[in-house]
Amino acid sequence: MCFNGNCASRELAQSVYDRLVQLTEEHHLNDFESPTSLKCKLAGCLNICVNGPTLIVHPDRVWYHRVDLAAAERIFYEHLLANQPVTEYVHPLTHTSRPPGGSA
Ligand code: FES
Repeated sequence: MCFNGNCASRELAQSVYDRLVQLTEEHHLNDFESPTSLKCKLAGCLNICVNGPTLIVHPDRVWYHRVDLAAAERIFYEHLLANQPVTEYVHPLTHTSRPPGGSA
């Protein structure tokens, strides 16, 4: 997820990231032995830079925007654990190769 501060505050991005890491640890998805693993990484900017924070779920290539704490929890439980993308937060250009806009 982005952490450059152009599309949302860094404080919000950090809190969302921290919650996702916490949920990952609580569900033991960071365990080496786990058949399903999840890694949360902060990026600088994902080149959208509006309505952030922006988050991408790989390998599904689903882009999310407006990811606050409530959205992050829904994305974790519904998409990452149940494989159901949370359409309410999916970026409209998620199925293109890369949403346009923003800075490089
Ligand atoms: S800072 Fe969030 S996409 Fe650029």
